[in-house]
Amino acid sequence: MNKIVSLTNVTKSFQHKTAVNDVSFTIGKGEVVAILGPNGAGKTTTISMILGLLKPSAGEIKLFNHQPHEKQVREKIGTMLQEVSVMPGLKVREILELISSYYPNPLGIQQLIELTGLTNQDLKTRAEKLSGGQKRRLSFALALAGNPELIIFDEPTVGMDITSRNRFWQTVHQMAAQGKTIIFSTHYLQEADDAAGRILLFKDGAVVADGTPAQIKSRISKQSVSFFVDPEMSLEKLYLHSEIDDIYRKNNRVYIQSSNTDRVLELIFQEKIGARDIQIERGKLEEAFEQLTSGAKEAI
Ligand SMILES: Nc1ncnc2c1ncn2[C@@H]1O[C@H](COP(=O)(O)OP(=O)(O)OP(=O)(O)O)[C@@H](O)[C@H]1O
Ligand SMILES: [Mg+2]
Repeated sequence: MNKIVSLTNVTKSFQHKTAVNDVSFTIGKGEVVAILGPNGAGKTTTISMILGLLKPSAGEIKLFNHQPHEKQVREKIGTMLQEVSVMPGLKVREILELISSYYPNPLGIQQLIELTGLTNQDLKTRAEKLSGGQKRRLSFALALAGNPELIIFDEPTVGMDITSRNRFWQTVHQMAAQGKTIIFSTHYLQEADDAAGRILLFKDGAVVADGTPAQIKSRISKQSVSFFVDPEMSLEKLYLHSEIDDIYRKNNRVYIQSSNTDRVLELIFQEKIGARDIQIERGKLEEAFEQLTSGAKEAI
């Protein structure tokens, strides 16, 4: 694999908080990777360290086999941060020209317009007068201005309307097709599923899952079989079967979670527990994701 980003045992602690805890992963050329996780999971901290804006408390980060802050590395990276800040006093065109001039091989203004949906009117506007969504578009254009090989976005679609969002992902896919490496953070599973080839699932500063969207979904989307049963009936026999992941009671129903519901049905009859009104439910993906990332577990 042609390694573009590598983190080895990276930890970041603030005074009273370990924001990122012993994280290791590598990202290869051309990958589109989502850093997925709920608020406070450590996404921005990880991205800031990859960008060289924050220094790890421990561990090592390499980009293109170099330190993140080296000039030859910086020229190959484009980024759009969670907090958009634009230079006041300058018109959008002036900002784009200024930033482009820092790079050895920039994209032209025309190309940036096509890729980001900035309009000619936007170009003539002073940055501080742009709306939130227009600022995001400018920030997207600035990320692409240097024709980067590695593009890193922190929560890129927050504040974008549907049209801007679609255009954004269309451009990202276009970039990926050109062999660019793309990393973005999000707390929407659906967005990660739609746009990424790989998901790094963060929880409490650690990577709790790393795989394709299909792999992550199969891990977090469990099916369940539920039924009524005599409250006196012991369910202990069911626990002995390894196919059953979890059993809990809710509102007089028993819920059994498993990736193999056919087998659960067999077991229910085989163990003669007198189940009535049996239903099979596919776990809702977002709910399962919440459950996995909040750490909450249903009591039996
Ligand atoms: N400068 C800081 N000083 C102290 N604690 C911090 C600092 N920056 C982040 N943290 C803490 O580290 C944890 C991870 O924060 P981080 O911003 O990386 O989360 P995130 O996954 O990006 O969340 P969000 O989805 O809200 O953007 C949080 O508990 C946060 O309060
Ligand atoms: Mg963040």
